[in-house]
Amino acid sequence: MEAKTTAVTPEQWRAQEDCCARLRAYWQERGTVPAAYVETYGCQQNEADSERIAGMLERCGYILQEEAEGADAVVVNTCAVREHAEQRVFGNVGAMVHGKRRHPGQKIFLCGCMMGQPHVARKIQDSYRHVDGVFSTHHLWRFPELLWETVTTGKRVFATEDAAGSIAEGLPVRRAPGPRAWVSVMYGCNNFCSYCIVPYVRGRERSRKPEAVIDEVRALAEQGYRDITLLGQNVNSYGKDLGGGIDFSGLLEELAAIPGDFWLHFLTSHPKDASARLFDTMGRHERLAGQLHLPFQSGSDRVLQAMNRRYTAAEYLALVEYARAAKPGLVLTADVIVGFPGETEAEFEDTMRLVERVRFDALFTFIYSPRKGTPAAGLPDPVPRAEKIAWFDRLCALQNRISGEKHAEYVGKTVRVLVDGREENGPLTARTEGGRLVRLTGPDSLIGNFAQAKITGSSTWSLLGEAAE
Ligand code: SAH
Ligand code: SF4
Ligand code: F3S
Repeated sequence: MEAKTTAVTPEQWRAQEDCCARLRAYWQERGTVPAAYVETYGCQQNEADSERIAGMLERCGYILQEEAEGADAVVVNTCAVREHAEQRVFGNVGAMVHGKRRHPGQKIFLCGCMMGQPHVARKIQDSYRHVDGVFSTHHLWRFPELLWETVTTGKRVFATEDAAGSIAEGLPVRRAPGPRAWVSVMYGCNNFCSYCIVPYVRGRERSRKPEAVIDEVRALAEQGYRDITLLGQNVNSYGKDLGGGIDFSGLLEELAAIPGDFWLHFLTSHPKDASARLFDTMGRHERLAGQLHLPFQSGSDRVLQAMNRRYTAAEYLALVEYARAAKPGLVLTADVIVGFPGETEAEFEDTMRLVERVRFDALFTFIYSPRKGTPAAGLPDPVPRAEKIAWFDRLCALQNRISGEKHAEYVGKTVRVLVDGREENGPLTARTEGGRLVRLTGPDSLIGNFAQAKITGSSTWSLLGEAAE
């Protein structure tokens, strides 16, 4: 396991900027304004990466559009976390062959986590001949150079060789419209949970310099962003590779001191690295939103050990108790996997019991999906799929009941929300500090801002409210 990080040097990035300039000139000479489309699968980390891809495309002179049809460049940012995600990508990319026939100059790129798996990159190379370029997450910052090469030579390019993992500062970014912004604070993962592909495709943990993060958040606050989410596969281990000085709690302290009216969220926390110090820091600052996503994955100690999670169910429960005491009103969510290889019915019941004990506000539930090259994929897995689905349904039913009950507790209260937009011919959509969806009656003038919402009704999935003074 190599921990070396290579920072992309200013010279290296300037060479990419040169490619952007050359592409702008190339299209100008032809009197064309090229169009581009970016399609994103997977988690917030990929969303954030896609904003950088879109930023680079704009820098190269491309105008972003909402569909692949007719685009001069198409980039599909992929996710490898479960087989279903991969199947969707193969299906959709396969279908892109028709659009390309109608628009032969179109350049199709695949990037993201799937492309970090050698067998997938090979499959694309051999069987998806209409794909012009492939790059893994390590090579994202080289996109201008790859695009330039495909456009001017017509050759296919593959940038998938394994790399130490890089940090590129200063890439242009085209943020999604609205009051929310992502800020990646670290990349990669060192945890090697036995079921998970992420450490293989995103490389080792590496933290951005605190100054770079602080500058970015300060600029976003000045631009009027109201909700800033710090991203990392395991944000709590932020700083461990920086040689002392600052940890994640320390970073939060610094960010909490930035002037402006905004919430700070963060994703994702690993229980083994979530500390009392972190929860105390959350408790000290109102700006640090009362929301915690703390995946537990299983309620069985035997399964947790087989997953290489390095905590027990009792330790998890103690953490939750501490966090709730330190940050009153905390909204708690988690991820959980059903049907890990060898999981017994009794072990699944341990998961049900943990969910009942904790009473999460919401839960992201997944059926185990074997990932090639991970240790768990080699374990015997005797439980039939139909049985796993039955367990999964029971878990969802339990959580739906709890979510409904938790939502009902909001009714009659007035809470601060951030208003995102409006459903077509419908109510405003907003989120509470804890991320609960509120469908709100109120004027358009509230969009993009904080508002007070009187909660008048609730369901399993959302709250109903009226804008209040
Ligand atoms: N770094 C984050 C999330 C990573 S992926 C974390 O550690 O919490 C998001 C979720 O996908 C995981 O929390 C896990 O619940 C789920 N997941 C990951 N690999 C999976 C697999 N092979 N099968 C099913 N679910 C998986
Ligand atoms: Fe995957 Fe575990 Fe890392 Fe999360 S902490 S990305 S589940 S290996
Ligand atoms: Fe998927 Fe990669 Fe995120 S595998 S979940 S897009 S880190």
